[in-house]
Amino acid sequence: MANPVVYVLNGPNLNLLGTREPEIYGSDTLDDIAGMLEDRARDLELEVEVRQSNHEGHLIDWMHEAQAEEAKAILLNAGAYTHTSIALYDAIKAIRTPVIEVHLSDPLQREAFRHVSYVGMAAVDCVAGHGAKSYLIALEKAANL
Ligand code: DQA
Repeated sequence: MANPVVYVLNGPNLNLLGTREPEIYGSDTLDDIAGMLEDRARDLELEVEVRQSNHEGHLIDWMHEAQAEEAKAILLNAGAYTHTSIALYDAIKAIRTPVIEVHLSDPLQREAFRHVSYVGMAAVDCVAGHGAKSYLIALEKAANL
């Protein structure tokens, strides 16, 4: 039987990881992170499906797809949409697939406008503030769901 799939969905500006404010987000690119996740997923007998879009609707379509594909979980770093998107909140509520919120930085230690998380109001868990390792910690949590 195929290994369970975990969708890893990344929102706006995360395609620029590696060069985007490295003092905040570190120097790993999204491809580096995808590679780390694939290695760890193999040990955990999971598959990962890593995607990125700068468009809110793509993230929503992919969450619906994850449910249709019976994914085990979704790791969602929605970037700044985390703090603005009621549509993402509704999407998480609309599916049965558990969603774990992920951030490289810790939004609670940053500007006040990052302290609200619509994603966090609907997600089952959150991992933030560990740089690229946040994704690996979240994958472990997904494995244990
Ligand atoms: C982020 C934190 C968000 O506040 C920010 O808008 C991002 C990245 C993170 O991974 O630390 O784009 O989600």
